[in-house]
Amino acid sequence: MSKSTEQVPTLKVVLLGDLGVGKTCLRSQYVHHVSTNAYKATIGGDYLTTTVIIPKIEDLSEDTAALGDATIGAPDSVSPDPASQKVNLQIWDTAGQERFNSISQAFYRGADVCVLVYDITNYESVLSIRDWFSRFMEHCHVPNPGVIIVGNKTDRKLERCVNMNELKDILTAHSNRLNINDYVNDWTEDLIEVSSKKLDLVSEVFARVARVGVHNIEGTAVRRRIQGFDSIDLSAGGVIQGGCGC
Ligand code: GTP
Repeated sequence: MSKSTEQVPTLKVVLLGDLGVGKTCLRSQYVHHVSTNAYKATIGGDYLTTTVIIPKIEDLSEDTAALGDATIGAPDSVSPDPASQKVNLQIWDTAGQERFNSISQAFYRGADVCVLVYDITNYESVLSIRDWFSRFMEHCHVPNPGVIIVGNKTDRKLERCVNMNELKDILTAHSNRLNINDYVNDWTEDLIEVSSKKLDLVSEVFARVARVGVHNIEGTAVRRRIQGFDSIDLSAGGVIQGGCGC
């Protein structure tokens, strides 16, 4: 087993959205391949880490076709070919219940990517996305975080109450100060509908998260180098190491 000498970037990823939209289920499907119908409200938040292998990124807009090739695995269990790279994801699940907002907001700090989740059968959860995004931007202290928007529960499409094509208009209409449109790299790739019951769909979400996050931190590194801050190593992404943050 050959080990890559390249440093593996770690991205802090935060799942946000109203209670019951399926944040916990998305993460447990992705990390543990477990799907459950039981609902247990998240209190505060916690994180799990996993590793994803994605094709090396040159230009985010050119390589989205290869997204489905991403795989997950233990950090040292796979030797990626030179055209691919490992990315560690530290995935934070946060509480959707409003009364836990002040606790959850502490977990936003330093996040590289936020995943804004709504339930396609719940219009209120769509409208809330802008509030979640505003709170995230207020507390993350990262100038240019990645943003992925996920519509969950596509297995209940008969109860659908929002069309994916309307989403961009709903989320960007009447924006005054903070416009989510300024943070989404590519609406066709970064707005994704899934069911947390389907591992292949959920894996595509986190593969995209990894690509957007790596693209952003590399972009930030390049910008900083240009500004003469060569000594700052951004590859670790300012990530908190350690255990549960409940
Ligand atoms: P909070 O912890 O309160 O913020 O909720 P959450 O967003 O983490 O929701 P959770 O993952 O706990 O899911 C809430 C309920 O929705 C559970 O009963 C899940 O089984 C159900 N659920 C989640 N994803 C799906 C899905 O894709 N399809 C269907 N039909 N139900 C889902």
